[in-house]
Amino acid sequence: MTASTGSDKIRIGVFDSGFGGLTVLRALLPQIPTAEYFYLGDTARLPYGSKSQATVARYAVESAQLLESYGADYLVIACNTASALALDAIRAAAHVPVLGVIETGADSAAAASTTRDVLVLATQATVDSHAYARACATHGLRSIEKACPLLVPLIEEGWIDSPVTRQVLRIYLEQAQAEATSAGMALDTVLLGCTHYPLLRGLLRESLPKDMTILDSAESTAQRVRRQLRSLKSLPEGTTDTGDTNIPVCHFFATDSVDKFRTLGSRFLGRPIEQVELIDLGG
Ligand code: DGL
Repeated sequence: MTASTGSDKIRIGVFDSGFGGLTVLRALLPQIPTAEYFYLGDTARLPYGSKSQATVARYAVESAQLLESYGADYLVIACNTASALALDAIRAAAHVPVLGVIETGADSAAAASTTRDVLVLATQATVDSHAYARACATHGLRSIEKACPLLVPLIEEGWIDSPVTRQVLRIYLEQAQAEATSAGMALDTVLLGCTHYPLLRGLLRESLPKDMTILDSAESTAQRVRRQLRSLKSLPEGTTDTGDTNIPVCHFFATDSVDKFRTLGSRFLGRPIEQVELIDLGG
C-alpha cells in the first residue's frame, strides 16, 4: 500500500465504481489545486448501476474505508449510483465529511432550467432509487428519469464516438422525449446523472435540440467541496487555493487492470495517468 505522504495538505478521497469519477476529479483539480488527491476506481466490481442497494452499499463502504485508510480528510462519492443508494451507509461508516453528487447535480439543473422540466439520464439503480426526482422536486423541478443501462459498458469499452453508441443514445433520448410529451412536459435541460456520461457530451450535443442545456454534476460538486472545506477552515480564505500553477499530487488506485485504468482513465481525466496501484477489495 502507498501510505499517505504525510504532507499538511488537505487530502481528498474521490471514489467511483470505475473511471467516471475522474470527470469529477478533473473539475476538482483547478478548484482546489493545493489538495492531495486519492482516487479509487472499483473497476473489478463495476457496474454498480445494475446491482442491488445492499451490494452497492457494501462495495461503496469498503471503498470509502480504503480511502480513509490512506488518510483522506474528506470524501467525494463521485458515483451517482453509490450516492443515490449508499450515501447514508457511507456517512455512517466514515469518520470524515462525505459529499455525494446527486444534490449538486440537482442544484445545477435548478440554476439552468427555465421550463422547470428536466431529463435525468442515469443508471438503472439510480433511476429506481428516484434520488434525482426527489432532489429535483426540492427545487420545484419536474423530472423524467431515464435509465440507460447500455451506456456504461460502451463507455468503459472506449466506444465514446462509435455509431453503435450514437444509435443507442438516440433510442434512449427518443423514449425519454416520448415519455415527457405524454406527461405534458417541456424538457429544456438534460442532467447527466452518471459520472461516465460526460464522455458522451459530443454525441449528446449532436442528438439533442440546440437549445437544450446539457449538464453534469462535476463542476457544481467541485465548487461545493471548495465551499465546504472553506467553511470547515480546511482551506485558507482568499485566492491562494485557486490559480496555483502547480499540478496537484494525485494517487490512483484500481481494483482491476491498472493498464486499462491508465489508458482509459487518461481520457476521462484529460491528462496522462502515469501510475496506478492495484488494490484487492475482495468480491
Ligand atoms: N459512474 C457510475 C455512476 O455515476 C455508474 C457506473 C456503474 O454502473 O458502476 O452512477
